[in-house]
Amino acid sequence: MPVLTFAVSGPGNCVEVGGVPYVYARTAQGGSVIRASCPHRGGPLHLATPDPTGRQLVCPWHERGTSLGRLRKEIPAVRRGSVVTAVIPGDPGSTVVHRHLPLSPGLSVGCREQF
Ligand code: FES
Repeated sequence: MPVLTFAVSGPGNCVEVGGVPYVYARTAQGGSVIRASCPHRGGPLHLATPDPTGRQLVCPWHERGTSLGRLRKEIPAVRRGSVVTAVIPGDPGSTVVHRHLPLSPGLSVGCREQF
C-alpha cells in the first residue's frame, strides 16, 4: 500500500494510483481522503453531493448513494496544514500520478477552491 502526501486543494489535490483517483474532501462532517471513483460504475465521486443527512455521497451519474463512512474507512489519512498523507490501497509498485481534480461545493466546505 503506497503512503503518499499530496495537496488538500488546488493543483496536485489528486493522486492517481494504478489508475484510481483519490482526493481530500471536506464535508460538513469533516475532512477525509476518498476514492474519487464511484463503486457503481466508476462515476466522478469528486463531483458528488452529500445527501441531506450528510452520511451518503450522491454520485452525479446515476444518483446512487455511497456511504461516506465507508469511503473514509478505506483510506487512513492525516492532514497537516495544506497537505495530507494517506495510505492508499494498491500495489507499492503501482504507477502514481499527481494531478488536479475539481471538487463539488459539497466536498469543499470551507475551502476557497470550488467546482
Ligand atoms: S457510476 Fe455512480 S451511481 Fe452509477
